[in-house]
Amino acid sequence: MTKRPYVVDEMISAKTIAARIEDLSREIATEFSDTDKLVVVGLLRGSFVFIADIVRELDLAVEVDFLEASSYGDTMESSREVRILKDLRGAIEGRDVLVVEDIVDTGHTLTHVIKLLQSRNPARLKTIALLDKPTRREVDIRADWIGFEIPDEFVVGYGIDFAQRNRNLPYIGKVRFTD
Ligand code: PRP
Repeated sequence: MTKRPYVVDEMISAKTIAARIEDLSREIATEFSDTDKLVVVGLLRGSFVFIADIVRELDLAVEVDFLEASSYGDTMESSREVRILKDLRGAIEGRDVLVVEDIVDTGHTLTHVIKLLQSRNPARLKTIALLDKPTRREVDIRADWIGFEIPDEFVVGYGIDFAQRNRNLPYIGKVRFTD
């Protein structure tokens, strides 16, 4: 599968993403305006670009932490079994937490992560996903903030990979196989 030749067609430009992040950051800053220091948790690896842009737009005191959850490995199909490969460095009990996800597809990853983090008794736990593919959903979950709702296309870029490639594209692109 990964050896098939493909090209990437731009779907959401870097400029459009940046404008959306400005709007989302304002909403998030309002929600957490009473927070002393917000813990922003990026889900590795896909969210590394998005979290970098979000925290730089947020006019708030933030602490950054990461959690690595994986359900896909190098395949295109969700295994539905979410594994925690790297846990948070810090405790979140009594803290305000924002989980940053690149894409919600079947919903298994975000559901699992929310359950895990809720069990640690944060004061408030909110979620943001840059992309949402609602037609693929297998569990009833929705992020509190969503950048863009997209159709069921295979997307890459802005942190999202195809077999560990294309994460460094500055835009969101659609994979188009050329064979
Ligand atoms: C991808 C993506 C999301 C998750 C969404 O992660 O980054 O975290 O899948 O899929 P779901 O809603 O069907 O659970 P992946 O496991 O591929 O790891 P990665 O972030 O390291 O690429």
